[in-house]
Amino acid sequence: MPTRILAIETSCDETAAAVIDDGRYIRSNVVASQTDLHRRYGGVFPEMASRAHIEAIAPVIDSAMADAQASWDSLSAVAVTKGPGLPGSLVVGVNAAKGICLARDLPLIGVNHLEGHIYSHWLEPSTNAAPEASFVHRLLHSASPFPLLVLIVSGGHTELVLMRDHGQYQLLGHTVDDAVGEAFDKVARLLDLGYPGGPAIQKAAQTGNPQRFKFSRPRVSLGAKTVRATSDEYMFSFSGAKTHALRLVQDHGGADGRHAAHIPVNDIAASFQDAVTDWLVEKTARAADAFDVKAVLVGGGVSANKLLREKMAARFGTAVSFPPMALCTDNAAMIGAAGYYAFMRGVRDDLTMDVVPDLKLG
Ligand code: KG4
Ligand code: ZN
Repeated sequence: MPTRILAIETSCDETAAAVIDDGRYIRSNVVASQTDLHRRYGGVFPEMASRAHIEAIAPVIDSAMADAQASWDSLSAVAVTKGPGLPGSLVVGVNAAKGICLARDLPLIGVNHLEGHIYSHWLEPSTNAAPEASFVHRLLHSASPFPLLVLIVSGGHTELVLMRDHGQYQLLGHTVDDAVGEAFDKVARLLDLGYPGGPAIQKAAQTGNPQRFKFSRPRVSLGAKTVRATSDEYMFSFSGAKTHALRLVQDHGGADGRHAAHIPVNDIAASFQDAVTDWLVEKTARAADAFDVKAVLVGGGVSANKLLREKMAARFGTAVSFPPMALCTDNAAMIGAAGYYAFMRGVRDDLTMDVVPDLKLG
């Protein structure tokens, strides 16, 4: 009998449920996206997100159980995202999980959403996964995969984390202002490219000139190997790039859309994307050198970015891993994988568990 986890994720704007066996095998993975709902507002509208989760949560969980052909009796535990995220969204998933645990007398495991993005790498990729992912995947399932360097790049987070063991995280660096996904979303809005911004910038950049505008890059490293955590060496900053994009838009006729035809949208998108991905690669490379890690894992919505994948692969070869595309953005499969490893470590929560909107790793 496998250790079978029902996982639930409602931290932001996806209502998701999955059934995962042994932290690795995806029996089902259902995601109800609210993207269309939030597109009109150019971003996530928390009140609407919460209400949409309430409508979707029961059918999504039912679908996940049906797709997996799983009986309630076959479950070992229920894992749910308890933070970080929007409070009114998190509480919908957490309450659903509690209800199931109470009714079925199952253990409850609260999972950190960021830990979920990390553990998406432990999931068995589908057959069309990139072959270069296989070295790291084999490493992760070997007896001693650690230490690992993790780069988390999402709408709310940009973090470099040293992982010395399952469930053990040391924060090395983070953004001092905007998260990288947030910067993508804001610049896309400036350029009138729509929501979500990451895929829109990536598409516009395809026909743009990345050399045309010089966005700031990290200052040249002094070359000294450092083992000091959260030194400037590993810090990110994206507000400069956002402001630069705003200035370019204004220089070409304003941000009010009246002169939109004159704005070199594709060149700005390409130059912005090129600089931002350089930041991510450069800082990751510094930390990977200093801490002599066995592999680099990249997770979170921005890990879907094609240019980031290409640059990381050029820098780290087979030692860098990206989740399969379907597991980059928010999903419950990753929460099931993280929940499994927490379950095996003996982590249990009780029915008084509350959501933690600003939950930190470790
Ligand atoms: O992890 P995620 O689904 O949700 C959070 O936990 O925040 O990440 C969403 C973020 C958004 O900012 C979105 O614009 C960005 O991921 N994103 C991308 C791409 N696909 C999604 N950013 C750059 N390139 C992409 N292809
Ligand atoms: Zn996420």
